[in-house]
Amino acid sequence: MKNLVIIDHPLIRRDLSTLRDRRTGTDQFRVTLRRVSTLVAFAVTNDFRLSLRLISTPLEKTKGYLLTDKVVLVPVLRAGLGMAEGFLDLLPEARVGHIGLYRDEDTLMPIDYYSKFPKRLSKSLILVLDPMLATGGSASAAIRFIKKRGGKRIRLVSLVAAPEGVRKLNSDHGDVRIYAASLDRRLNSRGYILPGLGDAGDRVFGTE
Ligand code: PRP
Ligand code: URA
Repeated sequence: MKNLVIIDHPLIRRDLSTLRDRRTGTDQFRVTLRRVSTLVAFAVTNDFRLSLRLISTPLEKTKGYLLTDKVVLVPVLRAGLGMAEGFLDLLPEARVGHIGLYRDEDTLMPIDYYSKFPKRLSKSLILVLDPMLATGGSASAAIRFIKKRGGKRIRLVSLVAAPEGVRKLNSDHGDVRIYAASLDRRLNSRGYILPGLGDAGDRVFGTE
């Protein structure tokens, strides 16, 4: 599918299986989500640009590197919060914005209830974090918000994506690359991803 990068790695497949398993409790779900997010972050940052700087080792001067782009992470509340720490483990210098969205259970339309972004979004490389891309309504709304505030270079990082969500993102935001650990089969009649992993927010925070 267009603009979709599937990140495949044995450790990611193992962790995703733990997340999918209905027997996995909140504590293990949270730890696993953080770890798989770090693995995914390693792949998503694969093409990040570097700037050269001279550093001095205890012995002599040599070439060193800094990330060229300022990175902003935007977890979509609530489930995206479960990915943020895993990303910050690899990108401790990143700034973090937040968007609060939930899906209306009947209409499946995203309802926004909170947003707070760092300054200078237009100059930043923005990674939107949400483990679930189902209808794509939430991710599309989050990206629309970010663009309204000047964001230009945006990537969406999910774990489990449905074809319906990928198609919506491609149609609403054709400039946004989507990363996922799995492209699942389809949505059920209530907008849940099959086989999926259930309600990610509830499983991260134990609110089932
Ligand atoms: C989940 C998930 C996404 C959204 C995906 O959030 O974390 O944000 O659903 O569905 P969509 O692609 O059809 O919009 P939810 O609405 O359950 O809120 P929560 O994270 O607070 O539980
Ligand atoms: N949101 C979730 O948390 N899970 C789904 O399967 C779909 C939307």
